[in-house]
Amino acid sequence: MPKLINLLPTKFDRKNLKCQHFLPTLRSRGSARLQTLNTKNEIYSTALHKILPAIYYRKEKGVYVDLGCGESSDVFGMAKYGYESYGLDLFDLDEKYLNPAQHPIIAKKLYQTMKNAHFIKQDCCENWNIKADVITSNAMLPLINPIEISLFLTQIKKNLKKGGLLSIFYSPLVCGYKIDSDVIKKYLIENNFKILNKEKDYLIIAIKQ
Ligand SMILES: C[S@@+](CC[C@H](N)C(=O)[O-])C[C@H]1O[C@@H](n2cnc3c(N)ncnc32)[C@H](O)[C@@H]1O
Repeated sequence: MPKLINLLPTKFDRKNLKCQHFLPTLRSRGSARLQTLNTKNEIYSTALHKILPAIYYRKEKGVYVDLGCGESSDVFGMAKYGYESYGLDLFDLDEKYLNPAQHPIIAKKLYQTMKNAHFIKQDCCENWNIKADVITSNAMLPLINPIEISLFLTQIKKNLKKGGLLSIFYSPLVCGYKIDSDVIKKYLIENNFKILNKEKDYLIIAIKQ
């Protein structure tokens, strides 16, 4: 009989529920950030840190959407800062964080008390509707089959408000695809986005004009 591991997909496939087995590895950093809540006040990811100056520069606090939010640490961080924050992910939040007996600080302090932080179970390549001032997608893009990337970008284009800030961080992931950042930049430029960062790393920051 074939071993289970041989039956599991080797690349992330958003339509295949078995891809859930990748989650503990994929979300380990976000989980670790939530666990430091006892000792640290700040739970932003490194990727969100990179655009904080641009966020602080914005006068009005508005609506924030994090695509592929994992355990939602950035959603809570931005909610704490004052944004109406939405985290979208294919797979639910880890139940252990929702259980006050297992994680009293996280379950009580975040999930129950932060009324402006919301989790929505949603495939970001399919239709979603939240008009946003800031959209981020950190460490999710390589999980989208390159053939389908336009589905993901179309939803961003539709939902980001004029003048809105977009940040996509896409470092390689073990079960992911190779990303051609030129294809993404070309799409954004053709669709009236202005790319703000010129250096070559795994980050695209853009403003919708
Ligand atoms: C590497 S984790 C990153 C989580 C979080 N952004 C962070 O930085 O901690 C990638 C997440 O993207 C989610 N994901 C992958 N494809 C998705 C899709 N099409 N729609 C929504 N979420 C997706 C996965 O379920 C996973 O939670």
